[in-house]
Amino acid sequence: MPLDPQLTGAPVVRREARDKVTGAARYAAEHTPPGTLYAWPVPAAIAAGRVTAVRAVDALAVPGVHTVLTHDNAPRLAEPDDPILAVLRNDRVPHHGWTVALVVADSPEAARTGAGRLLVEYESTDHDVILTEDHPGLYTPEEANGGFPAVRRRGDFERSFAAAPVQVDATYRTVPLHNHPMEPHAATAWWEDGHLTVHDSSQGSNAVRKSLAQIFGLDPDRITVHSEHVGGGFGSKGTTRPQAVLAALAARHTGHPVKLVFPRAQLAEVVGHRAPTIQRVRLGAGLDGILHAVAQEVVTQTSTLKEFVEQAAVPARVMYGSPDSTTVHRVAALDVPTPSWMRAPGEAPGMYALESAMDELASALGMDPVELRLLNDPAAEPDSGRPFSSRGLAACLREGADRFGWQARDPRPAARQEGRWLLGTGVASATYPVLVSRSAARAHAAADGTFRVEVNATDIGTGARTVLAQIAASALGVDVESVEVAIGSTDLPTAPLAGGSSGTASWGWAVHKAASGLADRLAGHRGPLPDEGLTTTADTEEETAAGSPYARHAFGAHFAETAVDSVTGEIRVRRLLGVYAAGKILNARTARSQFVGGMVMGLGMALTEGSAIDPAFGDFTAKDLASYHVPVNADALDIQAHWIDEDDHHLNPMGSKGIGEIGIVGTAAAIGNAVRHATGARIRELPLTPDRLL
Ligand code: MOS
Repeated sequence: MPLDPQLTGAPVVRREARDKVTGAARYAAEHTPPGTLYAWPVPAAIAAGRVTAVRAVDALAVPGVHTVLTHDNAPRLAEPDDPILAVLRNDRVPHHGWTVALVVADSPEAARTGAGRLLVEYESTDHDVILTEDHPGLYTPEEANGGFPAVRRRGDFERSFAAAPVQVDATYRTVPLHNHPMEPHAATAWWEDGHLTVHDSSQGSNAVRKSLAQIFGLDPDRITVHSEHVGGGFGSKGTTRPQAVLAALAARHTGHPVKLVFPRAQLAEVVGHRAPTIQRVRLGAGLDGILHAVAQEVVTQTSTLKEFVEQAAVPARVMYGSPDSTTVHRVAALDVPTPSWMRAPGEAPGMYALESAMDELASALGMDPVELRLLNDPAAEPDSGRPFSSRGLAACLREGADRFGWQARDPRPAARQEGRWLLGTGVASATYPVLVSRSAARAHAAADGTFRVEVNATDIGTGARTVLAQIAASALGVDVESVEVAIGSTDLPTAPLAGGSSGTASWGWAVHKAASGLADRLAGHRGPLPDEGLTTTADTEEETAAGSPYARHAFGAHFAETAVDSVTGEIRVRRLLGVYAAGKILNARTARSQFVGGMVMGLGMALTEGSAIDPAFGDFTAKDLASYHVPVNADALDIQAHWIDEDDHHLNPMGSKGIGEIGIVGTAAAIGNAVRHATGARIRELPLTPDRLL
């Protein structure tokens, strides 16, 4: 049945808002069963080698310390499918910060003090932690992340590029970035009659249960994982992290409930990082601005534990038409922590490079950068030849240009000045794929006229509860207030994680199906409902397996105005404006929040966020929020998110595309392009800190 547009577009206030601001919402580390012990992880102090001894006498002497777990005495478990979970199994240290011991005590203070008194001895071997474009370990993997082929070639790039009258050949660099969700990675675990219960800060508790079942050799029915409220994740909680395994292991060893919160300063080395990239982009165009040749060649890093290949060249397969193209990923396995997902993995660094190069091409052509993008907007997906289910890039560029006041722009660089501030504006495109996964859901009509929807969705701050209530209410044709929503537990119908901007599409489809089925049954029901009400379950296995003959992506355009202090090199982003074409927007309030959040994170990527690995010690140099600078309110001045409502019938019953990640895509390029316009200086490395400008 068609969804009620009033109900599904409305700016409904998020349901858990009051619980969150009053402290009633409970996060993973806010469950304290009687007898709870506290675990403090001990990070490796070397980048490669092995642990030769752990001397625990002084740690065990700290009042309140119960035990010290190491690879010598930790319970023997199965080899985890994911090597990053193979903690306390053997003496190997694969990277700096790897957890080598766990101190368990009856207070967090005692555990921390004990950890400080633990003497860990190592045998170091040489480490190799610095990525360069000619690193001897670079190889071409089969696939980049997301199952994309690492290499794609179309036509003859080299010949076409050599013959192009206008050429851009530029190399861009991005540094490692860290996810710092407000709530650090935490878990509370206990065992009762052979049943394991874990409250874990995760983006999807079904996946956590699966990992624990594999590692502890248990039937999944004997494990319950709750992720009721989660204070952000951005990808770093999208896969099972060691806190869940360590808490469960320590709980089994001690016979007590165990709580573990990774200290902020350990997160960088434990929860993945956005891998640094070195990206060579070559664009060849005619004098008319039509692209003939597009190449993007990405060099990135993974760890020695497993292969992770940031798929930064993938958006170049989607964005602009060109007969001749090559997109390549190469990777080196270094003695570094394993990189992982961070908001718009692939697209965020990849579109920084591609959209900066498009700006360079526009300058070389003497063409307006919005015009250049419109000119090369393809009719079908360049890589696959498939038609787009909808492609709103041109509409976003045009509406963004109007709203931003782009037409009045003087294209000359360094032409606008205000005292010592140099002013400039820049634009970049955005894209993110439409992803969807199988989900189950249950809808229940109670005899008292209220409804309840159950699905193991996760709300990582997005407003998932609220939008699912809107979808259910709309399918049932009832008030949104009459629908209760239960999410965040493996006790509920199985559902995929909050990731890949796919949560609402995946869970919402199942909720829509269950609620529509329930509505049909209610319509055919005569007389009062039985005491137990009516329940309908649904599963979207068939619908989601069917796939689509269409190329499905969300698009957007980002416009930035920057002011650059000509004396200090300080950059201020005065205005940031995004326009998105992301299908049907289901909740105007929470969607705006996600778009703006993505843009702010893009602002951080452009200006303030950056880490590095110390070549001598092999550790990240920015380990806390004092050294890793996320934007603050004073950095986020005038940020606007707008959207074009798309009517796309090739998506899901709600007509929605994902919105969680596209806000960060291209944002750093728009800002860099604005800085170039302001100053005339083209800086091809992020973040744009003052030292790079002076
Ligand atoms: Mo997000 S990086 O897809 O969890």
